[in-house]
Amino acid sequence: MQIDIISVLPEMMESPLSQSIVQRARQKGLVQINLIGLREFGLGAYKQLDDYPYGGGGGMVLRVEPLAACIEHLLQQQTYDEIIYLTPDGEQLNQKTVNSLSTKNNLLLICGHYKGIDQRIRDKYVTCEISIGDYVLSGGEIAACVLADAIVRLIPGVLSDEMSALSDSFQDGLLAPPVYTRPEIWEGRSVPEVLISGHEKRIAEWRLEESIARTRKRRPDLLDE
Ligand code: ADE
Repeated sequence: MQIDIISVLPEMMESPLSQSIVQRARQKGLVQINLIGLREFGLGAYKQLDDYPYGGGGGMVLRVEPLAACIEHLLQQQTYDEIIYLTPDGEQLNQKTVNSLSTKNNLLLICGHYKGIDQRIRDKYVTCEISIGDYVLSGGEIAACVLADAIVRLIPGVLSDEMSALSDSFQDGLLAPPVYTRPEIWEGRSVPEVLISGHEKRIAEWRLEESIARTRKRRPDLLDE
């Protein structure tokens, strides 16, 4: 899979995308992540990227020309299965969307900044608009890292224990059950006896019950679905 990310601040994403599981996936060649700085497509001597919004109001808007030039430059080299704009007014991200995106080959992510990007870029190029939650971030970079991380860990071969993605919260529409590791007793608190019983069927039943109870308490909306 290839994930290209256009941003005014590509450096901001270097560290989160160069650690842990995502880094291992990159090293194994299972994903190629390219951070593309928009600045080099900026206008004039000052490499201008943004301008005041027509109609007034606060904030700045990323102009069409640098974004269009950058996207066209990338499109000369490959096509994309989806061109995704990260924006608080997009469709809220969930595991189902992540699962679906993890089956694609080429994704282009566009990070907004300031007040966002000129609507005409959205109209012409963007195929999918994603929000990571009902709050406003300073830009799309952190949202792009969230999305890329969630996608990359699902690419076959990335997780060492393939089963562990299947037991994630949300994969079966439920929150994950509690987990424990050694020591068996800590400050007088014991690990639930069933987990040390070695009885696989009882353990599976216990986990399912705990998942349902936790989901009912914390996210009853998931059970309604
Ligand atoms: N950019 C700014 N806020 C955002 C959000 N909540 N989701 C995605 N992109 C954003």
